[in-house]
Amino acid sequence: MKPINVGLLGLGTVGGGTLTVLRRNAEEITRRAGREIRVVRAAVRDLEKAKALAGDLPLTINPFDVVDDPEIDIVVELIGGLEPARELVLQAIHNGKHVVTANKHLVAKYGNEIFAAAQAKGVMVAFEAAVAGGIPIIKALREGLTANRIEWLAGIINGTSNFILTEMRDKGAAFADVLKQAQALGYAEADPTFDIEGIDAAHKLTILSAIAFGIPMQFDKAYTEGISKLTREDVQYAEELGYRIKLLGIARRAEAGIELRVHPTLIPERRLIANVDGAMNAVLVKGDAVGSTLYYGAGAGAEPTASAVVADLVDVTRLHTADPHHRVPHLAFQPDQLSDTPILPMDEVRTAYYLRLRAFDRPGVLADITRILADSNISIDAMVQKEPAEGEVQVNIILLTHITVEKNVNAAIAKIEALDTVAGKVMRIRLEELASK
Ligand code: NDP
Ligand code: HSE
Repeated sequence: MKPINVGLLGLGTVGGGTLTVLRRNAEEITRRAGREIRVVRAAVRDLEKAKALAGDLPLTINPFDVVDDPEIDIVVELIGGLEPARELVLQAIHNGKHVVTANKHLVAKYGNEIFAAAQAKGVMVAFEAAVAGGIPIIKALREGLTANRIEWLAGIINGTSNFILTEMRDKGAAFADVLKQAQALGYAEADPTFDIEGIDAAHKLTILSAIAFGIPMQFDKAYTEGISKLTREDVQYAEELGYRIKLLGIARRAEAGIELRVHPTLIPERRLIANVDGAMNAVLVKGDAVGSTLYYGAGAGAEPTASAVVADLVDVTRLHTADPHHRVPHLAFQPDQLSDTPILPMDEVRTAYYLRLRAFDRPGVLADITRILADSNISIDAMVQKEPAEGEVQVNIILLTHITVEKNVNAAIAKIEALDTVAGKVMRIRLEELASK
C-alpha cells in the first residue's frame, strides 16, 4: 500500500524524538499501521541546528510549505504556543489534512474552534501527547472507559513541577536550581511559569474534563494555583501528618456543576499517586462501573512524548479512509451532544484543608481560632501546635479540617488573620483523600 506522508512542524525535543522513534521502529510501526508512515518534510526556524538530526529529510523555514504541500496527508504540529500554531493547524485542516499535535495550550484555548473546523472538513485532529506525555490517558478516557459515567479524575499532569517538588523533598534542593535542571532535561515549557504556576496543568485538565464529562473546553473557568508559594516547612509538616504535597489537577462532578481546579494538594502518603515522583505523571479516574483506575508513566521528555505522537499517527493512518461519522469523536461524545453543565466557581468547591498559622504562645489563642472555625461551620480533623523555637514567642499551629465549602474557609481565614494574636498570613493547602469509595 502507498505510504502515508507526514509533515513535521518543529524538530525540537518532541519533534526530534518523534523522528527518531519513527526511524528506529519503522518496520514494527509499518506492520502495525498497515502501511509505511514516511516523514517527507519538516519546518524549523534554525536550519543549521536541525541539519544533523534531519539527515536527508528536506527542511524549510516556512511552515506553510508543509501545511500547503499537496503530497502531505498528516501534519504534526510540534512548535508549541498559540500563533502561528493555530493558523497552521486551521490551514492544514482547510487543505483537507489530518493533524496530530502535542500542543495542550492550543487545544485548551482553541480546541472548540479547531474541532469544529475538523468536523466540517471530515478530518481528524489527534492530541494524545498533549496530556501526560507518554501515558495513553486520552485513549483510555475516550475509548476504554466509554461505558462509564466519570465521577472524578485527579492527576499529576505536570512533570516539571512534580520533578521540582520531589527534588526539594528528597534532596532539600533549592527551587530555582531544580527548575534549571528540568529545563536542561527538556521537560519545561518555553515559558516555565506555565509549569510552576499550574497553567500547563490547567491546560491539560481542561482537555481531560471535556473528554470525561462531554463539555466544551473551558480553560478560562479553571482555577489555577501553582507551587511557587510552597515552603519546605509545609512539605515537612505534611509528611509528619502522613501526607505528601502534589500539584494536582482535579475535575469532579458535583451536584451543582463541575469542579475544575489545579492547586498543590495534600494526599495521604499511602495512596499510590502520592508516591509518583520526578517527572512521572499519573492520573486517577473514578468511573461508576469500573471504580478507580490509575494510569502512570513518563509525563514529559523526547521519546515518551514521541510515543504518544506516533500512536496518534498510527491511529490516523488506520482510520483515515473510514467514514468520518464512524470515527471516535474528538471529545469522546458526539459533537451535538455536548452538555452545558456549568463549571463551579472556586467559592463553591468542597474539599478539606491544611491551614498553617503563626500565633503568640498565649492562653486563649487556640480558643479564638477554633471558635472562628466553628462559627464558619468548619469542623477540625486534627490540630498540632509546634514547640516555639529557642527564644521565640510565636509558634506554628497546623490544622486539618474536614470537608467544607471554600467560601467558608476564605471567610474564616480573613477573621483569623485579623486577630492581633496571629502574625502574618494563614497558609492554606487543600487536602484530598482520593478514596476509591
Ligand atoms: P522545542 O522548543 O524543543 O521545539 C520547538 C520546535 O519548533 C523547534 O524545532 C523550533 O525550531 C520549531 N519552531 C518553533 N516555532 C517555529 C516556527 N514559527 N516555524 C518553524 N519552526 C518553529 O519544544 P518541545 O518539543 O519541547 O515542545 C513542542 C510542543 O510539544 C509544545 O506544544 C509543548 O508544549 C509540547 N509538549 C512538550 C513536551 C516535552 O516534554 N518537551 C511533552 C508534551 C508536550 P528552532 O529550534 O529552529 O527554533
Ligand atoms: N512542561 C510539560 C511538563 C511538558 O513538565 O509536564 C509535558 O507536557
